[in-house]
Amino acid sequence: MGKSLNEQAHAGIHGLHAYVPGKPIDDLKRELGLTSIIKLASNENPFGVAPAVTRAFAEFLEKGASDLHRYPDGGGYALKQDIAARHAIEPERVTLGNGSNDVLELTARVFLGPGKNAVFSQYAFAVYPIVAQAVNAEVREVPALGPEADMPYGHDLDAFLDHIDENTGVVFIASPNNPTGTWLAPDAIEAFLQTVPPGVVVVLDEAYLEYQADSERPDSRQWLERFENLVVTRTFSKIYGMAGLRVGYALTSAAVADWINRIRQPFNVNTVALHCAQAALADEDFVAYSIQTNAVQRASLADELAARGLRCVPSQANFITFDCGQPSTPVYRAMLHEGVIVRPLESYAMPEHLRVTVGSQKENQVFLAALDSVLERA
Ligand SMILES: Cc1ncc(COP(=O)(O)O)c(C=O)c1O
Repeated sequence: MGKSLNEQAHAGIHGLHAYVPGKPIDDLKRELGLTSIIKLASNENPFGVAPAVTRAFAEFLEKGASDLHRYPDGGGYALKQDIAARHAIEPERVTLGNGSNDVLELTARVFLGPGKNAVFSQYAFAVYPIVAQAVNAEVREVPALGPEADMPYGHDLDAFLDHIDENTGVVFIASPNNPTGTWLAPDAIEAFLQTVPPGVVVVLDEAYLEYQADSERPDSRQWLERFENLVVTRTFSKIYGMAGLRVGYALTSAAVADWINRIRQPFNVNTVALHCAQAALADEDFVAYSIQTNAVQRASLADELAARGLRCVPSQANFITFDCGQPSTPVYRAMLHEGVIVRPLESYAMPEHLRVTVGSQKENQVFLAALDSVLERA
């Protein structure tokens, strides 16, 4: 008789729900027939892609497109050289991914499996349980700091230590974290790295690092020399505006990079993305502009929300999570009818919170007007 397909899918998969992304603009156009829509649901860069990337793309179409029948450079030689130079690290310690999600998943596949566990915070990025359960590892969610803490909903690193045991393969920490926007002080991360057993991999997810204030931003590069178990992940999706092209990377010890590379799909980053990411890395003006504008707009958006009596979680990312004081999914749905897409956090067990990406000044105004009209009716 054999087993049913249902039985063949392993236990970790049965416990999972597919990742729910921010609603695409075209879906809303189709569903509601709206023409003017703003999307502040996926923490994308509101200023689009770095101009150097647009130029590199055009140049690629002119000169490089005739080589598209060739496989990409699977080793990503040129981009790795540039990333390595940027971080003053050996190129063999850089691992490229199809977005940083890819390197998160690869890390889980190397260090997790049945009988192992992954430790991460309550309200942490939804991909951590997905990549852990996908390889049938146990997931251990560490209760987050409470709503009244100095860093409400933030990671409680002391409590992490109570959840780590001899079967822990990977600990995921995100600073700043999504969906909360909360962050960890560099001293706290360093103390944590010193305490975690050296055989436990610590992933430090820095997808939003560039958005942090200079004074708060850790220099994780120096830790990589001291902690062979540290995996730092970065992305081109946020500050460089390249979410659609999918490039991210990990900085690790040479040993960890070697293991990850053994299971990496040989051509996981495509030719166009490799070419554009090199241009993005060099576009320092765009990065500086994005950081500066985000800081100004984030502060003003937080003030506007607070003025409406809506409590914001402190954020050093390019989004703000706030308490609507009522179930947020109906608020989200009503806002769709106003042509504004935000993110309800019911799936993160924060059923009264909404997450809004910090947009351009104009987008933020449209968002606030839509929110006002929805909350007035509620
Ligand atoms: C905390 C965090 N890490 C990683 C990612 C993955 O981004 P990407 O795969 O686009 O690099 C995201 C995306 O939203 C994120 O919020």
